[in-house]
Amino acid sequence: MKLLRQQLFGQPRDIGRLAALCVAAATFAGVPTPAAASPVTRPSCASPGAGDCSLAWAARQSGIYVGTAISNSMTPLEQADTLAHFTAFTTENAFKWSETEPTKGSFNWGVTDALVDFAQSHGLRLRAHNIFWHRMQTPAWVKAEVDAAADPKAKLKQLMTDRINSVMGRYRGRVAVWDVVNEPLALFGSGWDTADSLLTPANFFYTTAGEGYLDDAFNAARAADPKAKLFLNETVWNPAIGDPKADFLLALVQRLRQRKVPIDGVGLQMHAMFGAKEPMFSGSTSKLAAYMNALARTGVKVEITELDVSLPQTLAAFGRKWSNTTDAQALAMQASVFQRTVRACAQVAACTGVTVWGMRDNNTWLDRFGPTAGLAPHRPLLLDGTGARKPAYNSVRDALLERCPLRGRQKTPCSTPWPAAS
Ligand code: G3I
Repeated sequence: MKLLRQQLFGQPRDIGRLAALCVAAATFAGVPTPAAASPVTRPSCASPGAGDCSLAWAARQSGIYVGTAISNSMTPLEQADTLAHFTAFTTENAFKWSETEPTKGSFNWGVTDALVDFAQSHGLRLRAHNIFWHRMQTPAWVKAEVDAAADPKAKLKQLMTDRINSVMGRYRGRVAVWDVVNEPLALFGSGWDTADSLLTPANFFYTTAGEGYLDDAFNAARAADPKAKLFLNETVWNPAIGDPKADFLLALVQRLRQRKVPIDGVGLQMHAMFGAKEPMFSGSTSKLAAYMNALARTGVKVEITELDVSLPQTLAAFGRKWSNTTDAQALAMQASVFQRTVRACAQVAACTGVTVWGMRDNNTWLDRFGPTAGLAPHRPLLLDGTGARKPAYNSVRDALLERCPLRGRQKTPCSTPWPAAS
């Protein structure tokens, strides 16, 4: 039984095997299999095998991958934290074009090799982020060559194909998910970045080749690694039907699928900041779930790919009303936004993963990069600076457990009905 339990809650690689093990365990223990018994009650921290009731345990119970972001090389502490709490991770920077090929034809694979090796040797699902992102970390030589070419569109397609063949070719069959195209759309509003602005450069992939650059990217990626899942990753501040950017993204995905472009999934980043426009702050489960289901109806999977929730005090500088919030109140508000967001994934069968954008509060992009760095500390994650679990950790874990996958021949879902949509 111990071996079985170790197998059951050790490192199951797919829910099918887990289901078979669950039925075997139930049979072995003389427990009627779920199909014969009343509906399976939802797992909880009191369930057998829950161990320390970690996010990783909840991920295996729910069948939803739970990941973190690893900025570059993994420190021993990051390795330990990842193995203790997660079943997946995303490479926050290592696979970006300027990191792997800063000058044309000169490659840096040391960090990416180590990250892929670590994921594979520990049975962690790896999301490689990202292949193309017009806004950040595309090496200057790429656009320079396109601008200088007699046929810029043909040159861009060649450079993109070379990029894909070099980076995906090297790791063929070893990376589960690729963020093939990151944030193709304008940061705010809807549509494309067609001209340089204060916040962001024009999307030169789009201005050179039109929307078809996405077709080229995904078709080349499918050819380079037929087994990998290919994602478009986007930031949608108000992920709800009717929001201009959300609707534009949905229509884009519909067009790509109609053109048989091999896109397998859409990542919704979900960077949440108190004070941001509704419903990001309120984290409306029902609106987010409805939007995820609309994307899923095009035939793609959906994932939450860069979740973090900046604490309100850091916005005090903006004179927001939270400047007199106590720490306990802020942490509770943060936990509530995390829970309402992850609950949406638990309620959408096509949602296959949740990734928080970082490990511990003292190592977040928000404190070290871009316009938010001046408002540090944001404390936007699930573990505090000492690695202790915050209220948000438990709220994410419990939200995951609201997904109770049908196991074995079980015909009815968990006995506890879905919580009322918030
Ligand atoms: O690795 C170099 C280092 O060698 C150098 O000494 C140092 C100082 O210049 O820079 C280091 O690279 C930095 C990198 O983070 C690693 O720390 C880059 O300058 C910096 O721009 C980069 O910021 C990243 C940012 O994307 C831009 O690529 C953040 O860590 C990362 O969290 C952030 O993540 C993005 C996602 O990729 C897409 N969605 C939005 C999200 C937040 O902006």
